[in-house]
Amino acid sequence: MRVLGLCGSLRSGSYNRRLLEAAGAHLPGDAIFDIYEGLADVPPYNEDLDDTPTAVSALRTAIDEADAVLVATPEYNSSVPGLLKNALDWASRPFPDNALRAKPTAVVGASTGLFGAVWAQAETRKVLNAIGADVLDTELPVGQAHNAFSAHGNIIDPDVHAALAHLVDQLLSMTSPPASVPT
Ligand code: FNR
Repeated sequence: MRVLGLCGSLRSGSYNRRLLEAAGAHLPGDAIFDIYEGLADVPPYNEDLDDTPTAVSALRTAIDEADAVLVATPEYNSSVPGLLKNALDWASRPFPDNALRAKPTAVVGASTGLFGAVWAQAETRKVLNAIGADVLDTELPVGQAHNAFSAHGNIIDPDVHAALAHLVDQLLSMTSPPASVPT
C-alpha cells in the first residue's frame, strides 16, 4: 500500500504539510507514505508541452504508482492555490486515461482563518471529480491552524484527530482490496 501526499503549500512551516504528516501517522505500519516534493518544479501548464517536462512525468508517475492520493490544501483568496491547481491540470492529461483516473483520493485542509480552507477543499474535490478521480466526499477543515498543532506536530483537538483518522480509514477502504483488511 502506497499513499501519496500532495501539499498545496511550499511554505517551510506549512500547517498543511503538518496535516499530511499527521494523516500519515494513521496509516498501517506496512504502508508507504510519501509527500511529493517536486511540486515547485512543475512548470505552468502548457498544452503544447503536454508530454515534455520531466517534472510532470515524475508527478504523473508518483500518482500512478500510488494506491491512493491525499491532498492537503490551504485556501488562497477563497480558492485553490495556483500551485496545486496547476499540478492537477498537468496530472489530468492525457484525458481521460490520466494517472488520477479512478484513483482513490481525499482532500483535507488547514488555514489560519476560522473555516479551515473549506472552499479550497470543495474546489479541489470538484477539480478531482472533473479529472475522473474517485473522490471521498468528506472534508476535514482545520481552522486557526496556528493553534491546532503541538510542538511535536500532533493535532491538539481530539475531535479533529479522530476525524482525520476516520478520513484516512475511509480513503484506505476505497482502495482495492481495502488496505486496512489483511489479505
Ligand atoms: C491566505 N490565507 C487565507 N486563509 C483563509 O482561510 N482563506 C483565504 O482566502 C486565505 N487567503 C490567503 C491568500 C494568500 C495569498 C495567503 C498567503 C494566505 C491564510 C492561509 O490560510 C495561511 O497562510 C495558511 O497558513 C496557509 O497554509 P500553510 O502554508 O500553513 O500550509
